[in-house]
Amino acid sequence: MPVNIAMDGPVGAGKSTIADRVAEKLGILHLDTGAMYRAVGVAALRRGLDPADEEKVVSMCRSIRMDVNFEPGKGQRTLVDGEDLTDELRTEKASMAASKVATYPGVREEMVRSQQRLATEHDMLVDGRDIGTRVLPDATVKIYLTASAEVRARRRYLQLLEKGQQADYETVLKDLIARDDQDMHRAADPLRQAEDAVVVDTSDLTFDESVEAILKLVRESQGGK
Ligand code: DC
Repeated sequence: MPVNIAMDGPVGAGKSTIADRVAEKLGILHLDTGAMYRAVGVAALRRGLDPADEEKVVSMCRSIRMDVNFEPGKGQRTLVDGEDLTDELRTEKASMAASKVATYPGVREEMVRSQQRLATEHDMLVDGRDIGTRVLPDATVKIYLTASAEVRARRRYLQLLEKGQQADYETVLKDLIARDDQDMHRAADPLRQAEDAVVVDTSDLTFDESVEAILKLVRESQGGK
């Protein structure tokens, strides 16, 4: 049986970077499932589809081939019909499209199926919103990574400033609360903590402390090995 670690949590809790480091330390792959929803969004936009057109987006999603490859040093590459879309997935447009297409049960069905297949083939840390509750209900360890909305907004705000972008803390906080609300209240597989998940609140933890806290949970689940 492969080792599967499920990591869920709201936007801005540091999931992606923390998951990267934890997976590296454990010598396993990190599957970023958000990238898969982003790739569906970008593929739809490239085909001139309106992400709000559920019927067309779901039908496209059933007809494309999505590949997730793991390249040493480059991490996860997400391909649609053989084309590597990875470098286009982090734009604001891709985020908006992803959050729309991720509400469609038809899209989620396709994504969940490929995520489950990948997880049976490899030892993996899988991060997303519905991993512990839906994708990997039998995961070896389930982690719900969170932080207060204020701390998450502050981190995001500082990130934007670092990138030289204009930012207003109050707006960042308001947007973050709105995205939390959308993720937690959508009908299909909303973000929620699995009953058997352990909460790791990173509000008062540094990056290294967060990584260590998770590694400790993984070690404990393996009987302290
Ligand atoms: O984690 P992220 O920001 O890259 O995710 C992009 C979008 O996909 C976001 O709106 C939440 C959604 N998502 C989801 O619904 N289920 C997942 N397992 C992962 C992401």
